Amino acid sequence: MPNVTIRPKDIVIEVPEGDTIMGAAQAAGYYWPTTCGGEGRCTTCACTVISGMESLSPRGRSEERVLVEERGAGVLDTPLRLACQARVYGDVVVEKPGVRPPLS
Ligand code: FES
Repeated sequence: MPNVTIRPKDIVIEVPEGDTIMGAAQAAGYYWPTTCGGEGRCTTCACTVISGMESLSPRGRSEERVLVEERGAGVLDTPLRLACQARVYGDVVVEKPGVRPPLS
């Protein structure tokens, strides 16, 4: 299974191929910031892709539209992705402050 590394805490999760970054993190018990609950509307889940962009599903029209509405057109030239929409097909490193490990 592909690994997703989440900075700055260097959390590493195994992600079943085709799952979203946020969905996989939540399934592993991690808290991931979200307002819309993963419906692709709030951009609260957005993360910066440090490496492995080619291992993610490409941005769909709806993801692009929401990102531009919330962050401006320049966002499409940045490595920002909605973690609730980006599907994982290989190892990826992302930056997302606020992701917290499961409470023990
Ligand atoms: S969780 Fe709201 S856009 Fe991803």
